[in-house]
Amino acid sequence: MDIKKIIDGPLGRVDPRVAGFVYERLKRIPLVRRIVDKEFEGMLDGMEEEAKPYKGEFETFARMPEKGRARQEILDEMRTFSERETDKWKDGYVSGAVYHGDEGHIDFLNEVYAINSQSNPLHVDIWPSAMKFESEIVSMTANMLGAEVANADPAANKAFPGEVVGTVTSGGTESILLAMKTYRDWGRAQKGITSPNMVVPTTAHAAFDKAAQYFGIEQKRVPITDAYRADARAAKKLIDKNTVVVVGSAPAFPHGIVDPIEELSEYARRRGIGCHVDGCLGGFMLPWARDLGYPVPAFDFRLPGVTSMSADTHKYGYAAKGTSVVMYRGQDLRHHQFFTIADWPGGLYFSPTLAGSRPGALSAACWASMVSIGAEGYRSGAKKILEAATQIKAGIAEIPELEILGDPLWVIAFGAKDPQVDIYRVMALMTERGWSLNGLHKPSCVHICVTLRHTEKGVAERFVEDLRESVAEVRASPGGEEGAAPVYGMAATVPVRGMVGEMLRRYMDVLYKV
Ligand SMILES: Cc1ncc(COP(=O)(O)O)c(C=O)c1O
Repeated sequence: MDIKKIIDGPLGRVDPRVAGFVYERLKRIPLVRRIVDKEFEGMLDGMEEEAKPYKGEFETFARMPEKGRARQEILDEMRTFSERETDKWKDGYVSGAVYHGDEGHIDFLNEVYAINSQSNPLHVDIWPSAMKFESEIVSMTANMLGAEVANADPAANKAFPGEVVGTVTSGGTESILLAMKTYRDWGRAQKGITSPNMVVPTTAHAAFDKAAQYFGIEQKRVPITDAYRADARAAKKLIDKNTVVVVGSAPAFPHGIVDPIEELSEYARRRGIGCHVDGCLGGFMLPWARDLGYPVPAFDFRLPGVTSMSADTHKYGYAAKGTSVVMYRGQDLRHHQFFTIADWPGGLYFSPTLAGSRPGALSAACWASMVSIGAEGYRSGAKKILEAATQIKAGIAEIPELEILGDPLWVIAFGAKDPQVDIYRVMALMTERGWSLNGLHKPSCVHICVTLRHTEKGVAERFVEDLRESVAEVRASPGGEEGAAPVYGMAATVPVRGMVGEMLRRYMDVLYKV
């Protein structure tokens, strides 16, 4: 069975939801199941080899060794892995992923981690330092994002009175999950909403879909305009009596564009509902970009309608992976995030975020990153990143076959305006040249998220040169199907969501194979 033929064929012409439903039903027939299984196995074979490069070369441990291995042996092996994995990001070949990466900074954070490795903020009595770090991380982040203005007028938003507060979480996804759960519970408590919905732009991060699934919140999708920002008027029309929150991104992951937060938040404020701004990617860049004179629309707590924000310290906050901040307008709203239980036999229990025990060392490293870099350091980091991005944008603009989507600052998505050029083939050829870029769809494009790694001498020039060569190569050999091009092509056109979802689930199974 050729899955692609079916997708492009009969199933491709029916409504995606109907096709998905038909596929789910057909799959229950044992023969169909066997054919599907075989087909997926074939597709995933090559992927397993790629995902498990150490298999065969290093010892694997399906079971614990009876006798422990020597520490030195373990350290040596890990150094080997690290050496093989470091060059790519260190030399600036990777989009996003490592946002700082200077050796001195990494060594410093590692030292901070080592000092605090036993710390667990769940036990505030044993490690009070952990809460010192976390409360200050929240406060520093909030003040960077307009809390001083919001706090000067705590009654600016009638439905959400109070000063800006927040918590440290494990990452952007947890910040978003918690914020959406908070609005669900707030809606139930304040407005008696039992079937809540959230109004979310299609370009908002997948974490919002995850929240919708996890917490049983209906997601109403706001289309984007030709400028790749959320259509605020469409969002307004989607708000109804069961809407608990309107979402905007600053900026959104795919095309790096900031949504019209001022309008979105004002619609929300007038309806007395929440407005969450996802600043996971931009929270630690936009304030400095604005200081530097770049065109940054209002996006933070300075706007009275903005009632919560997420900002990732583990991205442009330059902390180690594993921290983010979620902030709320008012303690009352934050209370809907907190978990407490008074009748558990294990004692009185409370926890502010999803996890119970948490890595206090990561919060310590996050605090140390912020305090050691300071506003001046963040501003100069942002300056370098924005300048490298400007250089990259100018380079892309000079390649006639390509076009940049919208008018981004430092997350630059580009697609092909020449129908002869398949952008996924360009991406595959960039991969052959060592680059690791992000493939996106709807519309088909690729992005590079510029970080401090790309500000090193020669990196931006190398990117543009390699891109020019890759495009020329695609033009010279129309019809080629190298790399991920067919997979992305299929995912972009596939109407059978269930089928793609199944492939991704099976890929995760592969990842967890020893
Ligand atoms: C805009 C935006 N929101 C949320 C996230 C999720 O962050 P995390 O991967 O830390 O969970 C990302 C990650 O890239 C993002 O770009």
